[in-house]
Amino acid sequence: MAANRAFDVVIWGATGFTGRLVAEHLARDYKSGVKWALAGRSKERLEKLRLELSEQYGGEVKEVPILVADLRDQASMDGMAAQARVLLSTAGPFALIGSPVVAAAVRSGCHYVDITGETPWVKQVIAEHHEEAAQKGLRIVPCCGFDSTPFDLGALLVIDHLKKRYGKQAARVLNVVLGSKGGVSGGTIASGMNAFAEMKQRPELREDAGSVYSLCPPEARGADGEFWGVQWSQELGKYLGPFVMQACNNRVVHRSNYLLGWAGNDFRYQESVAAKSWMAAKSIQLGTLAVVAAMSQTWLHPLLKKVLPAQGEGPSRDIMLNGFFKNRVLAWSKEEGGAAPLLVQAEVGDPHRDGGYWGTSRMLLEAALCLALQQKELDASPEVQKGGVLTPASAMGMLLVERLRKAGMTFKILEEGQAAA
Ligand SMILES: NC(=O)c1ccc[n+]([C@@H]2O[C@H](COP(=O)([O-])OP(=O)(O)OC[C@H]3O[C@@H](n4cnc5c(N)ncnc54)[C@H](OP(=O)(O)O)[C@@H]3O)[C@@H](O)[C@H]2O)c1
Repeated sequence: MAANRAFDVVIWGATGFTGRLVAEHLARDYKSGVKWALAGRSKERLEKLRLELSEQYGGEVKEVPILVADLRDQASMDGMAAQARVLLSTAGPFALIGSPVVAAAVRSGCHYVDITGETPWVKQVIAEHHEEAAQKGLRIVPCCGFDSTPFDLGALLVIDHLKKRYGKQAARVLNVVLGSKGGVSGGTIASGMNAFAEMKQRPELREDAGSVYSLCPPEARGADGEFWGVQWSQELGKYLGPFVMQACNNRVVHRSNYLLGWAGNDFRYQESVAAKSWMAAKSIQLGTLAVVAAMSQTWLHPLLKKVLPAQGEGPSRDIMLNGFFKNRVLAWSKEEGGAAPLLVQAEVGDPHRDGGYWGTSRMLLEAALCLALQQKELDASPEVQKGGVLTPASAMGMLLVERLRKAGMTFKILEEGQAAA
């Protein structure tokens, strides 16, 4: 990557709900030490945003440069990307408008992060750019928001602990959402609807969209599957139902397993939501399946759009700043000859902010800053990949965990044998 770039981070899609939050974190918490720019398709909307940010966070934001580019004009996209160490994108639906942005990053030699949860699109990005990005030493990292950072880094945390403390590999990881509170944005709803619409129109996207290995090459595929049932967890003393975002997260975690060589093809990963009773877990299961079924009916989309938040809208500040999420991550060691496995548990979450938007925008920003400002440490680390289309764990690993801890998130190994929450 070219060393001399005008900006550490360029925010593409800064005028959107989540993009604006990223800019706010920079304006509020990184008043010096980071060179950044606001980017998008509309000079007018970007100038309005910059004015509002400067009124809210101080006059120096008035000096933040604005870069205008057009997805249909390759030269303008390349011109923007060529000024960045890291191009950070919050402009979605990614399957509709994300590809020219990644292509510009790879052509212009900058790292890239985004918050897509659209794994059929990520699969396409891997096919188109993994080889070139690996050769050029560029880290292209989709899924750096709530999907899938806390889940991917949660798996890394317990697997890393098993390895370093006990010299053991993990046979299985279970990521359980113990609780969460937050809202949803119109952009997320539009992206979800678009993902179903695209799959209907393009059979090639459907091909292995249901496989937890859809982001792994054929030689890295085993017999793991999704969890859509209800089960009792002895360790947590709770019933478990399915977690809807497993459809993104378990593909990302399996790619991390492949890229980092955690545990080979028989590695098992499950994501669930904890419930107080069998009935509550059953309701979660039926509710989740009903939401997925409704979203998959494209004829329902115009109706749903009338009652759900529009693009550009999202949860109120009150909802985001009084939100939280708390996950429990469990890993069982791989043992030979029927020996009892070791169990390691960790807590991952944020006790004070929602994961979906405040959390997502912070996780994304910290990922971008990790790539921009800690490149030497990343390049020297044997625990992360040097280039390619990567995952949060395989691109930044424990360096990103450290940054997120400093930003207020919890990544904590619980004492072995500690009782459930
Ligand atoms: N992974 C996660 O946990 C997570 C969390 C939150 C959001 N997301 C995803 O992030 C994305 C954004 O969500 P959001 O709620 O912030 O959306 P949003 O408010 O609708 O913002 C979308 C942004 O994309 C820009 N954009 C749209 N069409 C464009 C085009 N043709 N050319 C250039 N820019 C264009 C918009 O620019 P204008 O202002 O010029 O229209 C705006 O800046 C969605 O895909 C959502 O699913 C993921």
